[in-house]
Amino acid sequence: MKGMWLMIVLLLHCVELKGILGAQGICQLKTSCTECVRTPGCAWCVKKDFLKGGEPNERRCDTPEALSIRNCSLEEVINPQPTTETIWDKEFRSGPGAVVQLRPQSLHLKLRVGVPQSFEVTFKRTEGYPIDLYYLMDFSYSMKDDLQNVKKLGRQILSTLRNVTSTVRIGFGSFVDKVAMPYVSTVKAKLAYPCSASSNGSCQPNFTFKNVLPLTEDAGEFERRVSQEKISANLDPPESGFDAIMQATVCQKEIGWGQVSRIIVYTSDNSFHMAGDGKLGGIYQPNDGKCHLNSEGVHDKGAIYDYPSVAHLSEVLSANNIKLIFAVTEEFFPNYEALSELIPQSVVGVLKGDSSNVVQLISEAYENLSSIILLQHMQAPSSLELSYSSSCSDGVHTLGQKRGECNNVRINDQVNFTVTLSSSACLPKKEMFIIKPRGINEVLHVTVDTLCDCDCQDREEQSSYCSGNGTLSCGLCSCDEGHMGQQCECHQQQDGDTTLTLEALCRQMNSSLVCSGHGSCDCGRCVCRGHYTGHFCHCDPTSCSRHGNMICGGRGVCNCGMCECYGDFSGPACECSTLVDQCQTGDRGPLCTHHGRCKCNQCQCDSGFFGEHCGKLEAPCQKYQ
Ligand SMILES: *[C@@H]1O[C@H](CO)[C@@H](O)[C@H](O)[C@H]1NC(C)=O
Ligand SMILES: *[C@@H]1O[C@H](CO)[C@@H](O)[C@H](O)[C@H]1NC(C)=O
Ligand SMILES: *[C@@H]1O[C@H](CO)[C@@H](O)[C@H](O)[C@H]1NC(C)=O
Ligand SMILES: *[C@@H]1O[C@H](CO)[C@@H](O)[C@H](O)[C@H]1NC(C)=O
Ligand SMILES: *[C@@H]1O[C@H](CO)[C@@H](O)[C@H](O)[C@H]1NC(C)=O
Ligand SMILES: *[C@@H]1O[C@H](CO)[C@@H](O)[C@H](O)[C@H]1NC(C)=O
Ligand SMILES: *[C@@H]1O[C@H](CO)[C@@H](O)[C@H](O)[C@H]1NC(C)=O
Ligand SMILES: *[C@@H]1O[C@H](CO)[C@@H](O)[C@H](O)[C@H]1NC(C)=O
Repeated sequence: MKGMWLMIVLLLHCVELKGILGAQGICQLKTSCTECVRTPGCAWCVKKDFLKGGEPNERRCDTPEALSIRNCSLEEVINPQPTTETIWDKEFRSGPGAVVQLRPQSLHLKLRVGVPQSFEVTFKRTEGYPIDLYYLMDFSYSMKDDLQNVKKLGRQILSTLRNVTSTVRIGFGSFVDKVAMPYVSTVKAKLAYPCSASSNGSCQPNFTFKNVLPLTEDAGEFERRVSQEKISANLDPPESGFDAIMQATVCQKEIGWGQVSRIIVYTSDNSFHMAGDGKLGGIYQPNDGKCHLNSEGVHDKGAIYDYPSVAHLSEVLSANNIKLIFAVTEEFFPNYEALSELIPQSVVGVLKGDSSNVVQLISEAYENLSSIILLQHMQAPSSLELSYSSSCSDGVHTLGQKRGECNNVRINDQVNFTVTLSSSACLPKKEMFIIKPRGINEVLHVTVDTLCDCDCQDREEQSSYCSGNGTLSCGLCSCDEGHMGQQCECHQQQDGDTTLTLEALCRQMNSSLVCSGHGSCDCGRCVCRGHYTGHFCHCDPTSCSRHGNMICGGRGVCNCGMCECYGDFSGPACECSTLVDQCQTGDRGPLCTHHGRCKCNQCQCDSGFFGEHCGKLEAPCQKYQ
């Protein structure tokens, strides 16, 4: 057992070491503690006598593991640790009363720049989440038969939805179009009675949107108020549905929206006007997204502001947690389906000509909407990057998405999300953002700090470590005027000299190590350690090629990695003689008897020849037997 643990520890260590070597290089270019801790994976050692023989200050910055190996104790290492603190984490709760479906509710994170930090968010769909449903109906003349049916609808909607939750409220609003040409006739008689003359009695004057009944639990009230309503009419086929959705969304108080699951059911048998169409009626002011209901609940600025755009609607719906159900006739289903694609948390269903199937449609659409959980963030600062991994109750797992998403979430299912947060830069102050399930009125507040500063407690003026002529902080000396060097041990020679320019004199290239890592920088001059030589201690006399196990074959000197061979020798390791006497017979004989080449004073014979001087011919009889 012990042996197994040892193996695991060793294995882990190897994995870590791989990491260390990667980060080490980056760490060792950081010359101050703050620069160091702003680099992922790096830590700073403040220990006074940590640097050996004039190692540069940047050697204080390294991976924590490497610092520990180099004997910087844990208390002397500045390595701010990322943390996740849970501020609020109320238990899940289902109704009645305050419902809790999202955990946790508040977190505080401290991040290191570039180091991702993860936390868990869990959503549990509860039974009985209260519902506010606002029924928005097209009152153009063709909806006359629908209105007859809808009058009886209140009770059915309530009883069906009460199967899902105990608390349901229902409201009612109607819309026709902007009171201006060409949307409605502005002939005086038509304004008062927009329906055709042949229609019988019941027709109400022009209007854009009317909040007929704010949300109520009373089905009887719904029936009474809707029964009093009369149909209206307009000229052009598309209606002001967008104006109606906008008003129903932003007029929070007038509609009476509660902190519950909010739904608008939009019924129409025709298309919709959108931003830009106002120009036809001379309406140029863009929609202001504000509530304009008068004391009668009538939108009285319809002819002043243009219709809202799809994006504008989508944004206010999302900001107000409102889900949208389009219940439209088959003919216009494709139009609304395309629209629904642009509005998250909306669905489309086919309404029968007389709206008789609307209750079934609402309950199906409600189930569809509620079974999709989209988790996303809002108001996050741009230097923060968030990604989501989802673990859904239907077995679907996704990694590294822009938002969390689970489908087919049933009541009492719990779905889990891992949110990974990473900051690419230091945040100037504490930042806050929220993470919330779309269309659900619960949020997770996240505050974020970045750990970008060193809290070194070693500050000491005229420190003896700084030769009495500098201030110590984070293990570094900042020298008084006229002094410089790592420990303020050097005197300023010329104006403009600084500790850094002195040190630069000891670097072969801008970014390389001081004295190539093989010596110390003594006020601008390298003092090499061991056998290293050269101006920057960059030469290692033992690094030259070997021949016969001797540096430069024992026939030359090693000069900064290159063999300088004596007189009659050549080659990278002086392994070759430049003489040819061994290739000749006698004094002046031909080289290798003309049957080979002389290389390093030895014959290399052409094929068929052998012998010291290639003077012998291989016997053909022997060869061919
Ligand atoms: C760390 O300290 C130990 C004991 O004091 C010593 O043997 C070792 O050489 C030191 N290591 C380094 C890298 O200084
Ligand atoms: C409520 O649910 C029960 C059982 O699931 C079902 O029998 C009943 O018809 C439902 N009532 C309505 C109004 O949908
Ligand atoms: C008009 O109303 C009367 C009685 O209310 C009814 O008899 C007649 O059929 C209606 N006409 C139309 C065209 O609806
Ligand atoms: C119908 O239009 C006229 C003229 O724009 C306006 O004065 C009147 O208030 C409108 N009626 C309603 C109910 O909005
Ligand atoms: C609900 O979802 C089912 C399956 O995805 C789909 O067939 C149906 O049309 C949807 N109904 C509504 C009203 O969105
Ligand atoms: C979510 O996490 C909880 C507790 O850790 C677990 O019981 C549940 O099965 C998880 N759900 C999914 C869909 O993974
Ligand atoms: C500080 O520098 C002055 C010269 O500028 C020198 O006389 C003095 O000895 C230095 N202090 C210490 C403690 O070395
Ligand atoms: C060294 O760095 C300085 C300033 O960063 C730059 O101007 C100079 O070109 C660099 N020299 C070399 C040899 O890289």
